[in-house]
Amino acid sequence: MHPLLRVLLRTFRDQAWLGAMVGAFRIGSLAALLVQGQLGWGAEPPSRKNVHFEPGRPWLDSQGVHLNAHGFCILDHGGRHYWYGAHKIAGKTEAEKNEAGVHCYVSDDLLNWQDSGLVLSVFAPGAHPDLASASILDRPKVIFHSATRRFILYFKLYPPKAQGGKTGTDFAYVGVATAAEPTGPFVYQGRFLGGNSPFGTGDFTIFSDTDGTVYHIGVRKPDKAMVCGRLSDDGLRPAGDYVTLAGITPKTEAPALFRRGNRVYFLGSDSSGWAPNAARMFVADRVGGPYQHLGNPCLGVNPHNHLGPEKTFGGQSTYVYPVTGRRDAWIAMFDINQPQDPITSGYIWLPIEFEADRPVIRWRDQWDLSIFSTP
Ligand code: DGJ
Repeated sequence: MHPLLRVLLRTFRDQAWLGAMVGAFRIGSLAALLVQGQLGWGAEPPSRKNVHFEPGRPWLDSQGVHLNAHGFCILDHGGRHYWYGAHKIAGKTEAEKNEAGVHCYVSDDLLNWQDSGLVLSVFAPGAHPDLASASILDRPKVIFHSATRRFILYFKLYPPKAQGGKTGTDFAYVGVATAAEPTGPFVYQGRFLGGNSPFGTGDFTIFSDTDGTVYHIGVRKPDKAMVCGRLSDDGLRPAGDYVTLAGITPKTEAPALFRRGNRVYFLGSDSSGWAPNAARMFVADRVGGPYQHLGNPCLGVNPHNHLGPEKTFGGQSTYVYPVTGRRDAWIAMFDINQPQDPITSGYIWLPIEFEADRPVIRWRDQWDLSIFSTP
């Protein structure tokens, strides 16, 4: 049956006599739309479309629901884009366990995202005890591991507070899960304490270099030095030793790396809990350093919260995405951390520009991919 006819019949059926006037008004409006040619007989109800990136504004998925994927990363595979992030539970604080697992969205244009659901769930029946009992599960990063042809998901995994030492968060593991498809389901493969430290690492990233080497770069606990170690050939655990990344300011968090030619750039933040602070950029000739400090790459002010470079526009780095099909194109991606309301907080995506080899992240109210040149 034609969708419009269905709407009309449902209106007649569902409306009580009192509501018939309202129904008649709706029918009248539909008829008017038809007369105006705004709704053809074959037309589907209008679906919403994002046409620009609007940093710092609420970002809705294709169903009009707030994107809920924090501490996220973007993976390109088979011509599509996949967004993975921690699903935050509305109304709960971090102390009350407010992460349900890893949420995935799929897109063809980086602007419009379809909900693919939780690809790893801590509340799922039969969830591994490490996941089910985790106090925190965040900052997920996914790579496609070309040698094993598996998708590997890494995440920051804190044990239950009672097992977390004096502070309850003395130890942090890197949890590992794999899948045959980018939309999962991801199967838990275990966890490791990174950084050659019995306390593991806190904030981290996984950097898959152009030669296929996969690195785990993380904030070593308890001394907060930034360290880097190669992962095993199957990508599931550290291959051996870690090096301390010389030149990275102590207590740097939120690492996000990208390669531009023969240089590796490192974007990070200071350490101030969930409150925003100033971003910092470093550069090196090798992933393992030594790094040179390039200062704060941010410029401009976020008009929605009036925060500028001193607070990274109100965000904290989570990923730098190399734009497929564009030349010299990277997007710096930040989370807006609002522990009291993580649902509507939004995200900040901004293009990285280079001024004499120095990355600059300039605030823009609105932008799209045409900013980048095609190869
Ligand atoms: C800053 C980190 O970057 C976040 O991932 C989170 O762990 C908060 N600290 C918690 O305070």
